[in-house]
Parts: sequence; structure tokens; C-alpha cells
Amino acid sequence: MSAVETKIVTRRVGVVPPFDLEAYRADSGCRALEKALSMTPAAVTEEVKRSGLVGRGGAGFPTGLKWELTAREEAESKYLICNADEGELGTHKDQLLLEGDPWRVLEGMTIAARAVGAGKGIIYFNEHFRSIAEQWEEMIRAAEQASLLGDDILGSGFGFRVKVCLGRGLYIAGEEMALIASIEGRRPTSRDKPPFPTQHGLFGLPTCVNNVETLANVPDIVERGADWFRSIGLEDDLGTRVITLSGDVKEERVREVAVGSSTLAEAIETFAGGTRSGRPVKAVQPGGGTSAFLAADALDTPIAQQAIARAGSSLGTAGIIVYEEGHSIVDAAVSCMEYYGRESCGRCAPCRIGTVRMLEILKQVQAGQARPGSLDQLRRIGYACAVSSTCGMGQAFPEPVLSALKLFPEEFESQLVAAPNATR
Ligand SMILES: Cc1cc2nc3c(=O)[nH]c(=O)nc-3n(C[C@H](O)[C@H](O)[C@H](O)COP(=O)(O)O)c2cc1C
Repeated sequence: MSAVETKIVTRRVGVVPPFDLEAYRADSGCRALEKALSMTPAAVTEEVKRSGLVGRGGAGFPTGLKWELTAREEAESKYLICNADEGELGTHKDQLLLEGDPWRVLEGMTIAARAVGAGKGIIYFNEHFRSIAEQWEEMIRAAEQASLLGDDILGSGFGFRVKVCLGRGLYIAGEEMALIASIEGRRPTSRDKPPFPTQHGLFGLPTCVNNVETLANVPDIVERGADWFRSIGLEDDLGTRVITLSGDVKEERVREVAVGSSTLAEAIETFAGGTRSGRPVKAVQPGGGTSAFLAADALDTPIAQQAIARAGSSLGTAGIIVYEEGHSIVDAAVSCMEYYGRESCGRCAPCRIGTVRMLEILKQVQAGQARPGSLDQLRRIGYACAVSSTCGMGQAFPEPVLSALKLFPEEFESQLVAAPNATR
């Protein structure tokens, strides 16, 4: 069967000129904001809560609950941060929305700010998005002139201002605590939670951090209602996911699909034209570079959180990285580890040391110089990092290696130096 697109957050992309407010308004833009301003903040939060929307930044935290937790805090000021760092390997969904329908994201931010009671907003861009950030600066000025941002938005009495912040292009800066540290001018490193950012976030104030795609979903939920949103996707996993197809595919593509509506195989074939060489798919990472590999026998898995988890991986950022037959899994594991090793913030020892040791061993395997015991060592270090690292990155980076060892052990074993007594 072919995969079918369901366009909600991407419906204006490539159709409505992106940074053009008039065009946005002519296409029903700002209606949700007007509606939200006529509702109480608690009613807006309740609608989002009822919709079942969960965060699209990777962790899948319920959005309405996060808003409620932030709103509950008493403070003289609060922040709403849009996380536009998007450093995960094989993931380009947020970029599509930031440049393809930026007014939608800003509208989502403003509604979120109203719901949680934030007067200040920040959109934090990855350095690689510098030119998009410059366009956002201009858009924010236009929004202030149009009374869509400022001290009295659309005459409602609600005030919200947004600043653009440009990061240094570090993967860890997308992790919410590291992101907050980076905005405060400190080195981007994670910290232990609690307290959570909703309690003690940017400059010590209650802060709601949401992903771009999460916020992009908000205007439609507010305008069309939670019941409408609940009619899309699966009972326990609602709405759409903006998937990125990359790796050994004919065409790299970003597409929006209703949760559970198509399988990995269907999406790869329909949207990306199949594998680059036409050879069968050997493996995929369905949720970006930190997700576990799935072998070809899992390609019939629907693109949905629970189904992917049952198959042995995670949907994460829905960055589906494809590996075709002939692609060495050892090489793939080395590429992942090189990236995450470079990106480790170094704050906690398991991640700081584990990434280096695991990469060393993997490179020995790649060069045909590793001893038989090396694979067990690789597994032990991987498990230790996964259970003892303090942030999501350290807990996740061993996944590709551990899953590769589990699914394709012979590829690693065939590259080992024979044990000394095995040659006699
Ligand atoms: C290493 C690491 C990198 C992350 N990078 C991003 C990112 O680039 N964008 C993002 O939205 N969330 C990222 N996250 C998740 C954030 O910490 C946070 O959960 C998210 O921004 C919350 O938004 P959501 O609830 O709308 O998903 C990352 C997490 C980790 C552990």
C-alpha cells in the first residue's frame, strides 16, 4: 500500500508565501490566536490537554500538562521557549516549519504564552539556521507593528514579546536544561532534574520549553477543537508526525502523516522512492540517530510510538534513517558514535568517557584490530552509560551500537582478530 500524507502543520508549506502576514491572514492565520485571547488561559490549556497532544521534540511529554504545571507556578514573570535547535541526526522537520510556515509557529508560541502566563518568549535557533533566524527577526518586528506581539496583543490586554537567540550549533544545546544554560550565556550542559524548568527555568523563573512542531500543532487544536484533533491518528497516539526520510534513499524527504497510517516500508517507498541503489532496505533508525536500529523484518511496523517501541526502537524525532543492503552496520555505528562523541557536553563521566571508549573500540573493529572480548566490553560500556548518564543524550547514544550488536552480531564478529588459540 502507498503511504498517504495528512497535512495539518505542513499544509501551508510551499502553498502560502511563508513570511507574508497578509497571505497568512488570508489563509485563516491568526484566527486561533483571536479565539485563544477570548478564552481564559485555563480553558486554552484544558483544550490542549484534552487533545492529547504530546511533545514532538523527542521525549513525548503531554503538552497540556506541561502548560498546566507552568501556569500553576506563582512568579512575577515567566518564559515560553520555542526549541528550534534541531540537532538530531536525520531530522529536518522543524526547519521545514520554521521556514515554510513561520507565522504558524509564532502563533502557537503566543497561544502557549497566554496559556501559561508567560510575558517573555525566546526562540532558540541552531547556528545552522542563521538565515532563518534573521528572517524571524524581521517577522517579529512585523508582528509587533501588527499588534500580534507587544504589550497589548490585539487589544486583549495580554502582553508577550519574543526574542531570537542563536545557539552555537551544538546538539546538546537542544536538551532543555542545556538550552536554558546557553540562553543565560553559560556553557550548554544539562543538569539534574528536579527542579524542572516549569518550576525553575530561565533566569530561575518558571519556563515552558516546547518544540517547534509541538507549537505548530497548537493553532489548529485551538481553532478546530480537541475532538477534531483526537479524530486523527491512533487512540493512544494522536495527530500527525512530520517525518524525515534520509540516508540511503533516492530522495530525502520531509512529509506529514497521520500517526499509524503507514508503515516504515510504505513511507520509504512512497515518499523517498525506495533505496538509493534499489537494493532492499537492510535496517532503519526510525527516530533519529540516537534511536535503536530495526532490521528489515520490522519494516511493516506502523509509524507510531507504541508500535515502534514494541519493535525495539523509539519514534523520537521521527527522523527515519535508511540503510540499504551493502551498507556496513559497523560503519553506521561508527558514524553515530563519532557524532555523539563530538557532541557530548562532558558534564557527566559515563557520557564523557563512554563515547570516547566506545568509539575507540568500534574503530578497532572497523580496522580489523579488535579482539573477541572487545564486543562484550562495548556492550558493558554501552549499558553502563545508558543507565548511569544523567541526561537523555547519555542515556540514548549507546542505543544504535547496542542494537547493531544485537541485530547484526556477525558483522562485528567477522571483523575481529582471531583469538590466539583459535588459530592453532
Ligand atoms: C541531547 C538532547 C537533545 C535535544 N534536542 C532537542 C531539539 O533539538 N529540539 C527539541 O525540541 N527538543 C530537543 N530535546 C528535547 C528537549 O529537552 C525537550 O524535551 C523538548 O524541547 C520539549 O518540547 P516538547 O515537549 O514540545 O517536545 C533534546 C533532548 C536531548 C536529551
